[in-house]
Amino acid sequence: MQTTLRPAANASGTKDFLPLYGTDHIEFYVGNAKQAAHYYKTAFGFQSLAYAGPETGSKDKVSYVIRQHKIILVLTTPLRPDNAIADHIHHHGDAVKTIALGVEDARDAWQQTTARGAQSFLELTELRDDHGVVKLAGIHTYGDTVHLFVERQHYDGVFLPGFVKWEPEYQPSETGLLHVDHCVGNVGWNGMDRWVGFYESVMGFKNILSFDDKDISTEYSALMSKVMSNGNGYVKFPINEPAEGKKKSQVEEFLDYYGGEGVQHIAVATKDIVATVRKLQFRGVEFLKVPHTYYDDLRKRIGAIEEDIDVLAELGILVDRDEEGYLLQIFTKPVEDRPTLFFEIIQRKGARSFGKGNFKALFEAIEREQALRGNL
Ligand code: FE2
Repeated sequence: MQTTLRPAANASGTKDFLPLYGTDHIEFYVGNAKQAAHYYKTAFGFQSLAYAGPETGSKDKVSYVIRQHKIILVLTTPLRPDNAIADHIHHHGDAVKTIALGVEDARDAWQQTTARGAQSFLELTELRDDHGVVKLAGIHTYGDTVHLFVERQHYDGVFLPGFVKWEPEYQPSETGLLHVDHCVGNVGWNGMDRWVGFYESVMGFKNILSFDDKDISTEYSALMSKVMSNGNGYVKFPINEPAEGKKKSQVEEFLDYYGGEGVQHIAVATKDIVATVRKLQFRGVEFLKVPHTYYDDLRKRIGAIEEDIDVLAELGILVDRDEEGYLLQIFTKPVEDRPTLFFEIIQRKGARSFGKGNFKALFEAIEREQALRGNL
């Protein structure tokens, strides 16, 4: 895999101290990587890419790497009980450990961020094999989550040194997922300012949108959200914090079951959300449903769109408009038994926002699920 893209200049034209190519990969720590890989292939259409395990010299853990277009997921499980991966799974369940970001210079990324106060997770590490060299370095972010800086311009192997090509016979087809649009972190009470400050001062991100509890509240619960973006806009991290409501908010439920702060959802982009969601539903992915009344005044609220609203209603796809265009989105139910991580499928047609007009309908749908779990 060769990254040829160069990080674009940021909007203001000034030089980023942390230029990013985008999301390199996302690593999950899971209880059973073999079964998780099967689920993401079968249900979401990811393709087998690479493997590392005892057969390749990795004695303590196994990782399966799967890919769909530019999205690369790594599913890692420990082979023994007493280690950091097993502890992570014990505390958080199956969860995102690493949001890895492509960089031109991993050493510089680590130096720039740690000099600005980031806590080091991994000092510069060079991995080599016959295909070249990859340089890695990492820093801690909210909870037990980390950012890994990946410098892979001088590597043409399948994923990273230590991995071999994974070519099983079972290869379900893709579903049209293209790239990571954004990754959302849930942080604790009063954690917002700290983590917005972290992304601003340590990573050079900007706060491009903010929502307060007036925007995101229902009869029962509320949350606040701020969207952080890097200079070229390739990496966007919305941060959610719970706000006081009559009952327990969805962010509080997450924090309780996750055991602290962590990644709440990963939004993945498609160019044809109707086709993608049809495939995902057929393959067993479960989505949150809004009441049919959501679609009654949609045409009036949104104006003309290219999609057939009856089809959107049948599939449960939501629509929102901003000054630049519109977007279509839908949210899965949590993809594990704890009510923690879920996915968003998003198609942008000009809009660069995050579906503010859907928050109320969506959060009421989440609360119906929360109530069924006895947590509202
Ligand atoms: Fe989202």
